[in-house]
Amino acid sequence: MSETIDRRSFVVQGSTAALSLTALGKVSRPHHSPQDEVVTAVMGVNSRGNELATSFARVGAHVKYICDVDARAVDATVADVANLQTRRPQGITDFRRALDDPSLDALVIAAPDHWHAPATLLALEAGKHVYLEKPCGHNAREGEVLVEAQRRYGRVVQLGTQQRSSPESQHVIQEIRGGLIGQPYFARSWYANTRDTIGRGAPAAVPAWLDYELWQGPAPRTPYRDNVVHYNWHWFWHWGTGEINNNGTHEIDVCRWALGVDFPSKVTSAGGRYHFDDDWECTDTQVASFEFANGATITWEGRSCNGRPTENRGRGASIHGTTGTVVLDRSGYVVYDLENNEIARGVQGESTDALDTRGGGSLTDRHIANFLDAVRGEATPTAPIDDGHRTQLLCHLGNIAQRTNGVLHCDSQTGRIVDNVEAMGLWSREYEPGWEAKV
Ligand SMILES: NC(=O)c1ccc[n+]([C@@H]2O[C@H](COP(=O)([O-])OP(=O)(O)OC[C@H]3O[C@@H](n4cnc5c(N)ncnc54)[C@H](O)[C@@H]3O)[C@@H](O)[C@H]2O)c1
Repeated sequence: MSETIDRRSFVVQGSTAALSLTALGKVSRPHHSPQDEVVTAVMGVNSRGNELATSFARVGAHVKYICDVDARAVDATVADVANLQTRRPQGITDFRRALDDPSLDALVIAAPDHWHAPATLLALEAGKHVYLEKPCGHNAREGEVLVEAQRRYGRVVQLGTQQRSSPESQHVIQEIRGGLIGQPYFARSWYANTRDTIGRGAPAAVPAWLDYELWQGPAPRTPYRDNVVHYNWHWFWHWGTGEINNNGTHEIDVCRWALGVDFPSKVTSAGGRYHFDDDWECTDTQVASFEFANGATITWEGRSCNGRPTENRGRGASIHGTTGTVVLDRSGYVVYDLENNEIARGVQGESTDALDTRGGGSLTDRHIANFLDAVRGEATPTAPIDDGHRTQLLCHLGNIAQRTNGVLHCDSQTGRIVDNVEAMGLWSREYEPGWEAKV
């Protein structure tokens, strides 16, 4: 895809039409000539990245590179994508080689959380657009850095909060803004799963299929252990960010979107690692609250090891107002009045299975279609990084409140913690030398 001044001015005129189609629930997919195809590389393809790579190919991008430090994941995803597009993608270990390719338009990142911001920065510096899986950083500072970097480099950075591209969610949130439930003042988010113990790991030889040095990347070096790669890194602070950033991002984002709030003024958290006695460092049970200066509150309830549903849903959000309630999830919404009578619903059958850790489904296709349109300049991204950062910051603040066992007071213009040196000590992280996240 080439960008010229002529093309840019055409694109700006076309953007309003594309947006209104999205609002009506139709994904705008105008015909594009081959030179308009968006050339992508996907980084981290063991699980979510495999889902994304196949979705990008299905939705019409050219997936040129499949990048992973696990040789087995590369081979499997190259084969899956080759079934969906005429050109076989190139499998590589180091995603930076893909960034060297001038024909590459976008990097898609589904590596572990400690890689999200550093890889995005490298991609932006190389002039590429980025589809970034949540969370938008391993820590609060990284979100701030990414917002700055996106402004500086002017590329599209879409966060992987796919419910932002749900026509039902877009519709009901517009209705909430129009007074559907009176004045909304409270929003509740939840996620429940029945995850197993990760046990006690032991030092082990690095498997032959893994480049562990590049897997660690920006994180300070630690010897290889046998219960971290893959997926379990989610529950170690060194690489992961816990359930609140893992699944809370999606549901807290819906709450913040529905209430129309940005940065909080007060954050609390209770919970712990209750269910198993093992290496898992984050909470498996957490209740966090976020108060906003306008008088609204969001709560998050995360249960990683006891999957009993809430509102018959393993994941979701409910928005409460002066005249009623909206319960919404990836499948749609139901509206209730104050007497608990159902007064409206809009459901499209999308899976809401909280146990599906790959996030599969049509919302991912829609979210990617929106990203590709935004890269072409034909739509506004539904989950731009500056908005995503505001949601992510709530999740990081929830963790910081939990880890410092206190109430956080925040500047509601920036989200920064005030008068609490200990809590601000968790704002960023230590990096492997040479990998500090800065613009
Ligand atoms: N939006 C969603 O619905 C959704 C769903 C699942 C996961 N995710 C996000 O996707 C990310 C990946 O999650 P997962 O469950 O697939 O984890 P995973 O551990 O199963 O897979 C991560 C992959 O990244 C690879 N990797 C690590 N370092 C790399 C590097 N330098 N270059 C290339 N590849 C590298 C690993 O080898 C592995 O194959 C997480 O950040 C998670 O939050 C989002």
